[in-house]
Amino acid sequence: MPRIRLHLLLLLGASLACAPAARVSPPAIPDRTAVSFPETWRFPSGVRASFARNAMIASNDRLASEAGIDILRQGGNAVDAAVAVGFALVVTHPEAGNLGGGGYMVIRLADGGTAALDYREMAPIAATRDMYLDDSGNVTDRSVEGYLASGVPGAVAGMAAALERYGTMTLAQVIAPALRLAEQGFVVDSNLHASIRGDRRLIGRFAGAPVFLPGGEPPPVGSTLRQPTLARTLRLIAAQGPDVFYRGEIADSIVAEMQRGGGIMTRADLAGYRAAWREPIRSTYRGYTLLTMPPSSSGGVTITETLNILETFSALPQFGTAAWFHRLASAYQRAFIDRNAKLGDPDFVDVPVAELTSKAYARSLAATIEPGRATPTSELTTTGSGGAEGMHTTHFSVVDAEGNAVATTTTINSLYGSGVYIPGAGFFMNNEMDDFAAKPGVPNQFGLVQGEQNAIAPRKRMLSAMSPTIVLDSAGQLLLIAGARGGPRIITGTSQVILNVIDHRMTLADAMSAPRIHHQALPDELRFEEGGLAATTQTALRLLGYTLDENPGGIGTVMGVMRVRGGWEGFVDPRSYGGAVGY
Ligand code: DON
Repeated sequence: MPRIRLHLLLLLGASLACAPAARVSPPAIPDRTAVSFPETWRFPSGVRASFARNAMIASNDRLASEAGIDILRQGGNAVDAAVAVGFALVVTHPEAGNLGGGGYMVIRLADGGTAALDYREMAPIAATRDMYLDDSGNVTDRSVEGYLASGVPGAVAGMAAALERYGTMTLAQVIAPALRLAEQGFVVDSNLHASIRGDRRLIGRFAGAPVFLPGGEPPPVGSTLRQPTLARTLRLIAAQGPDVFYRGEIADSIVAEMQRGGGIMTRADLAGYRAAWREPIRSTYRGYTLLTMPPSSSGGVTITETLNILETFSALPQFGTAAWFHRLASAYQRAFIDRNAKLGDPDFVDVPVAELTSKAYARSLAATIEPGRATPTSELTTTGSGGAEGMHTTHFSVVDAEGNAVATTTTINSLYGSGVYIPGAGFFMNNEMDDFAAKPGVPNQFGLVQGEQNAIAPRKRMLSAMSPTIVLDSAGQLLLIAGARGGPRIITGTSQVILNVIDHRMTLADAMSAPRIHHQALPDELRFEEGGLAATTQTALRLLGYTLDENPGGIGTVMGVMRVRGGWEGFVDPRSYGGAVGY
């Protein structure tokens, strides 16, 4: 009997054994409710998501999702497929897919086992607390662009660790689709073309120019992009494993380019990198269970704290009303104050995860929310807090036919990271050092104000907002796999999709298409997506005391997979592009 069916029978058996005779168990998949969005909103409601009976993958690139489905069809499980998607994105989605960055993975196996993998970058050994300050103590842009901006990459170690512990295939097998795409090339679409064009100044400064700007221009739409150097790197990793990246030939290439450009990353940095297995944060929300990412990401703690605050209210106001957005913004504001001041790398600082995610603490915070007034952030804290405006990251959600689920978010931070491209190995390096507090208490160029907990130290991981999350329904069955890109808006974007599914009973497509808001404590304003709030709702929020910021940018871009009757739906955030592919 397939493992998933056995699992369902066991669950059914357990619930029958415990349930009083007359009790009717809640439907595993409650009916969805139709929703209407403001007339000014750019995405329609009622759109159909992709559907498949057995398995589903949603990622920022259709070819990468197909690579994962290929692996599933060959008999691989969701972890094999997730690793294949991760490698394929390096080739087809170079703005964010990466070997030169890092990320997080939350796994929930069909047998109920769970795991969280932290493969976030680490600061180089030679990093110092004030390395990005000039002589006058002002923050420079060296954490954003160029050779000093990179943390030690964790992606290869992370993907290899996930595969080793939970996969069933070899690295060579799961790398094969990416290798094919790098070697034989793939057709450049308008998204990739526009992305390269948008960052031609940055790319043009470093060694990636001949690959991505041949003759000074992005490869034309419809042309075939081949990456032979990257193909060689992928072949080396497939044959020799992560060691070749951290101690072998690829390490040599990274260090050579770093030395050439005045960077500080050494062979000892690469040899010393370790991915870390952690316990996922397991929380409940209105009978559902959330499995999400603990520090060094702030994502799981901040989402859990927000949802715990909201859960203290027995019923939530209707979607789209000022009362709903007031409740939501107030919860985010309080959770972000803690996020910015109290979270950091748990291997370096004490992080009060248990307290911040406790129901009792949420009740004390909820008690400070007044129904008729927005609370100024200055009344809630004396320390500054804010949020970063990162540029690029990529999330993918995977479920296989057994019901194993993987949520992965990975990034090189901004689009094309630091811009630095390793010419001997064919990939971009991250600019993740900018996620540290370069100067605690002082906003960086993106408005981020974080605390001492996230100050720079050698070998420390910089705080992240990445929030790969898996939701189980009230019967303990897998319901939703989600995560996003968007800097701190990863947290608000991902959690609003979850709330839209649980509280507002939306379909996956509606939950992801619905207009979103963002509040990160400081700047003390409620950001909303252009056209996303009805004029009457805006007026009511202003009367409550909010400063509104109508922003043309999206609030996170989510990749979601959800169980529905008879199979799985997958949906790519309409704010972004990609492919939801199943079978
Ligand atoms: O780890 C983080 O929180 C950031 N480096 C993520 C950056 C990001 O999502 C950029 N995308 N828009």
